[in-house]
Amino acid sequence: MKAIARTYVLSAYAAGVLALAGAWFFGSRPAAVPLLIAVGAAVLSSPFRIPLPVLGNVSIAFTFVFTSLILLGTPAAVLTAAISGVTASLLRRRPRPPLHRILFNAAELSVSTAVAGSIFHLAGGTLGPLDRGGEWLAVVLAAAAFFVANSCLVAGAVSVTDDLPFFQNWRTNFLWTGPAYLAGAFLGAGLSVGYQRFGTLALGMSVPLLYILYFSLKLYAEKVQQERQHGEQMADLYLSVIEALALAIDAKDRTTQRHIRRVQMYAVQLGKALGISVPELEALKAGSLLHDIGKLAVPEHILCKPGPLTREETEKMRIHPRIGVEILETINFPFPLTEVVRSHHEKWDGTGYPDRLKGEEIPITARILAVVDCYDALTSDRPYRKPLSPEEALRYVQGEVDRLQAMADGINRSQETSTAPDKRRLPKGLDPLTRDVNQMRTSIMEHIQSAQRELFALYEIAQSTARSLNLDEAMGFIAGKIAHLLHYRCLVLYLHDGERKVLASRSVHGVHSQRLSGHTIPLGEKMSGWAALHRMPMHGVAHREPVRREGGRSDLEELMEEKAVEKLESAIVAPLLDGDALLGVL
Ligand SMILES: [Fe+2]
Repeated sequence: MKAIARTYVLSAYAAGVLALAGAWFFGSRPAAVPLLIAVGAAVLSSPFRIPLPVLGNVSIAFTFVFTSLILLGTPAAVLTAAISGVTASLLRRRPRPPLHRILFNAAELSVSTAVAGSIFHLAGGTLGPLDRGGEWLAVVLAAAAFFVANSCLVAGAVSVTDDLPFFQNWRTNFLWTGPAYLAGAFLGAGLSVGYQRFGTLALGMSVPLLYILYFSLKLYAEKVQQERQHGEQMADLYLSVIEALALAIDAKDRTTQRHIRRVQMYAVQLGKALGISVPELEALKAGSLLHDIGKLAVPEHILCKPGPLTREETEKMRIHPRIGVEILETINFPFPLTEVVRSHHEKWDGTGYPDRLKGEEIPITARILAVVDCYDALTSDRPYRKPLSPEEALRYVQGEVDRLQAMADGINRSQETSTAPDKRRLPKGLDPLTRDVNQMRTSIMEHIQSAQRELFALYEIAQSTARSLNLDEAMGFIAGKIAHLLHYRCLVLYLHDGERKVLASRSVHGVHSQRLSGHTIPLGEKMSGWAALHRMPMHGVAHREPVRREGGRSDLEELMEEKAVEKLESAIVAPLLDGDALLGVL
């Protein structure tokens, strides 16, 4: 047992002894025979109890505890409760609970009954049968006090033992038992009235009523248990779907599954240590697996490129958080998952992407994920460097962890003092994506398909050029493939003529093939000449730079002035290189 749980249980023992001793010392002591009857009835009914989903139970014996509270006083009720608490455990079928749990049951029942007794008398309840209308109010208040004390004590034990948030645990597992205590208290009060009139015969008359109470409680508890199991099954289903999706990402990205699992474990541990909420913890668990799902829309040759990425490749890579959000927004996750996915590449100084969020604008879950991802990468073996030790890696990320701690403290404080909606749900300045779901799905599929289309076209081009017998045949094939990727009007292959220092058109596809045949562009001039000289791809549209570039002339300027070709609206120039040697441009 953990130290905090041990302290809690020992404190409950002490409180139980104090409650029993205090009641006997300050309260009016009952006569032996009625006390024995009350204890006997409570002991006999104690095995009839409804187990709660996590720990503890609601026992029918509570009715007799309440009857003895009204007729015999608090000391008799505390003793009846304590004894029935012990016998409920001892008369139970195996497995019998451990001794410390039996003693805890007896202690917490003593405390709860002493609290209920005090409230009963403070609210105007008197010893003996209920003879005034106001005493029924005292019964209701005493039942409520018993329920609050009893459920809080047991929920507290569960929370310190299993590390569960107290309020959530109390609300889920104990709140629904409140009406049962009220019904039990009314039955107990009714029994005290019946006892006054019919003596011990009333005990027998109460049996059918007690059975109805027990039976309806049992049905209700079973329903709660079924709903709970259904919830757990749904959660398992969610997790399996998430894992399947994560595997799909891994297969593309070649990230090892162990890396993802470790990141998930570290993220949850750090999240718990920082005291983030349960939905945020759930979001972290799923987000650790799914944050890179948007990489489905990034071509594989970029994901697996061994060297540094070009500017264009980096731009393509950087769409993955947005695509990830679009994919996941179509599923209604019961926790804030998309903010982890959207912001996991943001940086504290505002240099991250996609929204360039700064400091505390970044959701805490996304920052936790970023830190643990970095920590795991540093401690992992890479072909180009040795792994850092955990201590060295921790030193590296310590600054960020400290900032996270400060942020978590600030959030927890503001939540304690404010009832305003949680600002972390959506980073400042960001609107939820509220597009039509169908439109969203189309856009996701287009992104993913275009990633695949590019890769496939590249693969086919590489294969066919290797097989082609001549340049014209290869160009014909390439022109066809590029037409699937881009809607061009005219595709020209210019070859580099080193002697004349010009680019000379060698193959033209699309419109103007006759006029552009034999067309030349001096090296370094116009758009294609510039791209060839600097070995850099270029693109531009008419209303923006750089269709007219370097000397202010586009490739087809003279021909356009002669009205020999139509106006050039946009162009893409790709230099063709063999190592550093210029072959031409496309
Ligand atoms: Fe990522």
